Amino acid sequence: MANIIDGKAISAQIKEELKEKVAVMEAEGRQVTLAVIQVGSDPASSVYVGNKKKACAYIGIRSLSYELEEKTTEEELLALIGELNNREDVNGILVQLPLPSHIEEDKIIKAIRPEKDVDGFHPQSVGALCIGQPGFVSCTPAGIIQLLKRSGIEIAGKECVVVGRSNIVGKPMALLLLRENATVTVAHSKTKDLKDVTRRADILVVAVGRPKMITKEYVKEGAVVIDVGIHRNAENKLCGDVDYDDVAPICSAITPVPGGVGPMTIAMLMNNCVESIK
Ligand code: GUN
Repeated sequence: MANIIDGKAISAQIKEELKEKVAVMEAEGRQVTLAVIQVGSDPASSVYVGNKKKACAYIGIRSLSYELEEKTTEEELLALIGELNNREDVNGILVQLPLPSHIEEDKIIKAIRPEKDVDGFHPQSVGALCIGQPGFVSCTPAGIIQLLKRSGIEIAGKECVVVGRSNIVGKPMALLLLRENATVTVAHSKTKDLKDVTRRADILVVAVGRPKMITKEYVKEGAVVIDVGIHRNAENKLCGDVDYDDVAPICSAITPVPGGVGPMTIAMLMNNCVESIK
């Protein structure tokens, strides 16, 4: 039976480490500040934003909250970002996505100064990751690297397959695994013979957004399986992109849903906030 990779425990450990770092900074008179912007009141976004603010409070990061009306214009949002970009007491800026359809997300992401881009979504941050230069890294894939390292799973030289090619998870995940000297394949909805590709993986990262799509036929015996998906099934229970009960018996380690990748995203956001003061 597989080892269960405990994202809750690992994220708690990271948050404790950050709390200590922030306490030292505070003693030196340095205060980390994150500005959190939400446009509209999408209930899922409100939950995520609430959790981010709670994590800030726990670690000792000051959070400034901007809850803007759904009808806020692109110009108004750009003006706020411009103001926060120029404030010396603000280290990080986070605009919760998705934005209402009348606002162009790309334009907003590009408006955040890369030095304050704690989400790691700015094209300069992504470019820096691509060529191995310093910059903020998207939180979910950065969290997955921490899950692997802190579970003692070697990455260098391994066959890694990432299923999904989103800008937020799949692409930066592939770049991070490459940076760790893995051999990386990115599979996606147009990949032919997906099972043949995923069965090559020593480490399989799944971010497809389809409940329980990955069954044991997709997984090599002894592989490490990382599940990025989170869905609510007909019985109101949470499940991932991986059919956990089917896959767990044949792999060496697996992340559960909930309690696997999910808690790591906020822990890494907090890490980026602490880094942003430098
Ligand atoms: N919406 C869903 N996930 C994220 C995230 O990681 N950052 C932001 N800004 N918005 C999101």
